[in-house]
Amino acid sequence: MQTERLVLRAWRPEDLAAFRIINADREVMALMPSTLDDDQSDAQALRIMDGIATRGWGLWAVEVPGIAPFIGYVGLNEPAQPMPFQVDGQPGVELAWRLSRHHWGRGYASEAARTCLDFAFDTLQMDEVVAYTVPHNVRSRAVMERIGMQRDLDGDFDHPILAPGHSLRRHVLYRKRRP
Ligand SMILES: CC(C)(COP(=O)(O)OP(=O)(O)OC[C@H]1O[C@@H](n2cnc3c(N)ncnc32)[C@H](O)[C@@H]1OP(=O)(O)O)[C@@H](O)C(=O)NCCC(=O)NCCS
Repeated sequence: MQTERLVLRAWRPEDLAAFRIINADREVMALMPSTLDDDQSDAQALRIMDGIATRGWGLWAVEVPGIAPFIGYVGLNEPAQPMPFQVDGQPGVELAWRLSRHHWGRGYASEAARTCLDFAFDTLQMDEVVAYTVPHNVRSRAVMERIGMQRDLDGDFDHPILAPGHSLRRHVLYRKRRP
């Protein structure tokens, strides 16, 4: 897919090296449970590539033509495990993003996310999309709010893959329904 400044595309084998650098960056991963080593990064990239090949959509690779062939991902994801929230009685699909630190502060995540929302509603005919993060992930929440998602005040939840007491366990939930 094309946005004003970006291309959202299937991943290429050469994206894996750039993804390793993003996943090893402590600032990018500050609000994730940990940075990823090269094997973990490659495994995640391969799962994402597999998902796009199987469904035709997913966490797309983001390219800035003429500037950078791969700056990270923005897209739609089916959570790998059952989550504490539901979307119209179903597990639901989330919007998610992770960009290289060098490409923050330019509006790329929000621009890509808006196009992904349109794709979810217009092409996939989804009725609702969610997004979630830890309460203090100010940048991620700002993207959610910028693209018109609304906080579900009753939706705060503990992430099921994190143990009780983990500092990143609590999450806030945002939703957006098809216009
Ligand atoms: C979450 C993340 C993608 C947000 O990145 P971001 O750069 O803050 O968000 P955007 O790309 O939408 O950029 C918005 C900023 O660009 C600015 N901007 C500059 N030029 C712009 C332009 N031409 N158009 C729009 N905005 C522009 C905006 O004013 C805004 O600035 P601000 O941060 O000072 O308010 C990024 O912080 C990230 O990858 N974090 C690590 C991974 C992560 O936490 N993922 C979420 C897990 S749930």
